[in-house]
Amino acid sequence: MRYLLHILLVIVATAAAAFTIFGIPGHLSRKPPLEVFPDMDRQAKLRPAQPNDFFPNGLSSQLPPAGTVVRSAPVATLGGPVYAYQDVPLNTGCVAGTTNFVPTNPLPVDAAALSRGREQFNIYCTPCHGGLGDGNGITKKIGVMPAVANLHDQRIVEMTDGEIFNTITHGKGLMGAYGPLMTAPDRWAVIAYTRALQLSWLGSPAELTAEQRAALTK
Ligand code: HEC
Repeated sequence: MRYLLHILLVIVATAAAAFTIFGIPGHLSRKPPLEVFPDMDRQAKLRPAQPNDFFPNGLSSQLPPAGTVVRSAPVATLGGPVYAYQDVPLNTGCVAGTTNFVPTNPLPVDAAALSRGREQFNIYCTPCHGGLGDGNGITKKIGVMPAVANLHDQRIVEMTDGEIFNTITHGKGLMGAYGPLMTAPDRWAVIAYTRALQLSWLGSPAELTAEQRAALTK
């Protein structure tokens, strides 16, 4: 008799615990379920445009941290601001709305661009293509990259700027993609410098003035 009472008590207690934890079957509740592991479902956060005392200036939206790129910041100015998400030659190397490569650099090719281009070329391209762009970089010397393109190949000299931009941006064969590493204006600057390298190989003494030739042969 005593045992029976014990068993009854256990059953009642278990049922009470079950109803407390799982609720009454078929009964809807607006209360959040009991969570053994919260799984980060709810976290402390600041609501947009609501005053708070977490940040010294009381705003929940803070200026972007240093070194990050703001989507709303223009990548270049070209007759107005150009944004990274726009389908324009500067970002894609293609005529807007098509997959046709643009023939020439959309940015002005001036001394500043060439100097920036030389710097960026020497950082990103020389390891494989060599300082002259002839494909004799350190990677060939130490034997880790057997066939690097010679940028003075007629095929590459005749390539449109847009196609070279595409190669730099997305990579090709063993060459990696430099789009994620270099800004679009820097990639165009490298192209301008590559063209200067190519021109330097294609030049002939006949194109020089008499004085320049004299200086060369001295
Ligand atoms: C890690 C080595 C490496 C680096 C760094 C590198 N390239 Fe290349 N590049 C290659 C290789 C390898 C090829 C040949 C790819 C192929 O045709 O499969 C190539 C091909 C090319 C071509 C010819 C593409 C074509 O369509 O045939 C161009 C142009 C070029 N690279 C430009 C650059 C520029 C500009 C940079 C610097 C931003 C650069 N490369 C950095 C290895 C490299």
